[in-house]
Amino acid sequence: MEGKEISQAVIGRLPRYFRYLGELRDEGVERISSQDLSGLMQVTASQIRQDFNNFGGFGQQGYGYNVDYLYKEIGKILGLDQHHHLIIIGAGNLGQALANYMNFEKRGFLMKGIFDVNPQLFGRKVRNLTVEPMEMVEQRIREREIDIAVLTIPKGSAVEIADKLVSYGVKAIWNFAHVDLDLPEGVQVENVHLSDSLMKLSYMISCYENQRG
Ligand code: NAI
Repeated sequence: MEGKEISQAVIGRLPRYFRYLGELRDEGVERISSQDLSGLMQVTASQIRQDFNNFGGFGQQGYGYNVDYLYKEIGKILGLDQHHHLIIIGAGNLGQALANYMNFEKRGFLMKGIFDVNPQLFGRKVRNLTVEPMEMVEQRIREREIDIAVLTIPKGSAVEIADKLVSYGVKAIWNFAHVDLDLPEGVQVENVHLSDSLMKLSYMISCYENQRG
């Protein structure tokens, strides 16, 4: 697998494989064929085989894939065999909702702090975290070995804050602010726009209704 360029489309599908395999594993399923996985995930068996062939095929031997092995291997590819330490910048509605979502921890994403500029929020408990002022961010990033910052602040201040976070040592930004971040090479950004997903849904409704006339 080393040296081989994997397409973004394949990488984009890996989390879904990982999620389904995790559920199968929790249900005690030991082996699954690409046909059965295909039926479950509504993806063609040939697509599954092609995707997995990018990583050497994961040992499909006629009798199917070993679920636990496949789950762990895909987890390794996604970097989920390591823990990540996250902080949330912006303790408003979205920041608090993310801090309250416990399942990230199951995947190795550990929430280590939440920060805001609004003094009225300082000291507020959000699950196991306490909202701290932005003045504490640099120190916390260094002492808690933070690698990912979650940006849930308005777009006006997002660029400036992102630059600061990078200078303090974060390696990646999970960006919910509606602005493109231009960060140095080596710093990873994943932009999340829930409204894009909603617009896709709207498009699907329109397509379906147009087809039915
Ligand atoms: P909110 O107003 O409830 O929270 C924003 C928080 O950020 C406030 O507590 C505010 O004091 C804090 N803040 C502002 N400037 C800051 C700074 N420089 N440093 C630290 N904290 C700062 O807003 P909400 O609903 O939580 O949304 C947050 C942002 O995320 C908004 O800009 C919104 O447009 C965006 N958003 C994006 C979504 C997406 O899918 N990408 C979905 C929902 C919201």
